[in-house]
Amino acid sequence: MTPTPEIVILRALLENETRYVSGSDIARSLDMSRVAVWQYMEKLRAQGFNFEAVRARGYRLTGRPNVINRSLIEAYLSTRNLTFGLECLDEVDSTNDEAMRQLATGRSTPFVAMAKRQTRGRGRFGRTWHSEADGNLYVSFAFRPQVPPERMQTFTLWMGINVCEVVANSTRSNPGVKWPNDILFDGHKAGGMLTEARMDADQIRDLVFGLGLNINHAPELLPEASARRATSLSEQTRASLDINKFTAALIGRVLDAYDQFVSGEYMKTFADRWHACDVLRDKPVSLVHGPRTIAGIALGIDDEGSLLVRTDKGKTERFRAGEVTLQKV
Ligand code: BTN
Repeated sequence: MTPTPEIVILRALLENETRYVSGSDIARSLDMSRVAVWQYMEKLRAQGFNFEAVRARGYRLTGRPNVINRSLIEAYLSTRNLTFGLECLDEVDSTNDEAMRQLATGRSTPFVAMAKRQTRGRGRFGRTWHSEADGNLYVSFAFRPQVPPERMQTFTLWMGINVCEVVANSTRSNPGVKWPNDILFDGHKAGGMLTEARMDADQIRDLVFGLGLNINHAPELLPEASARRATSLSEQTRASLDINKFTAALIGRVLDAYDQFVSGEYMKTFADRWHACDVLRDKPVSLVHGPRTIAGIALGIDDEGSLLVRTDKGKTERFRAGEVTLQKV
């Protein structure tokens, strides 16, 4: 899909942020009149962008929205013209549910559904994912992967590695992944992943990968019990993060990671990269698995993505699922 004039204009302004971009140059590149360019600028202004306009020099970007903005995300996704659907809603019950509903209508994949606020954000084990407006990221990716279902156990782990790396690169911080689905900083949770797949006999019909990431929202605004355990990227870096630039980088990374997953290429680096971001390895943990609570030392994961734990009885057990708590030493 070729970018709309609005996106072409935004890209020109973002690429030349300290300089003025001539209105006539933009008009020429888009084969439209300067008045038409001005009309597009007004549309962008209505979305929260600010420009300085100087006669005979042109336009310069002086302000942009720091809440999820579809145009900005698309402009930042500069190397990747939109070959996938991208939906930015003001409010939705759950972006995972929204993606599921759209898959059920036959919408082609991949597509990305995100919202500024969720009214029924969900986490693992049916828990609520608090999803206040503006400042955090609530995003779901929808796919129809043609891979053997047994491989799916490593899917969330592989995505976790990629989310962790993109956070580290974009913020120069040091996050980790807690098996199987948490993004942590020093024991405090900044994000969670929820992968939901629908099966047809022995095939995957479709799959939604949901990610909630605390970006600029202050953790103390969460209900008390969650606030103590939570953190956000801005709290970690002591700076506000450009949520749209970050989201564009994240979307690009997740879509590439998905391709590598489907082709099987991910297997070349999976184990080493998991090792680099695994926060549990060699640490004392307790794991709740069905009716059992197991205490031991986490030893990493096996090829299938199961967690290995050397139990207090000296036996190594593997777990496909469960909830892990890091024990204080
Ligand atoms: C967890 O830590 O238990 C997983 C949390 C997943 C939350 C995200 S927010 C976007 C997507 N929509 C949801 O309802 N849940 C996921």
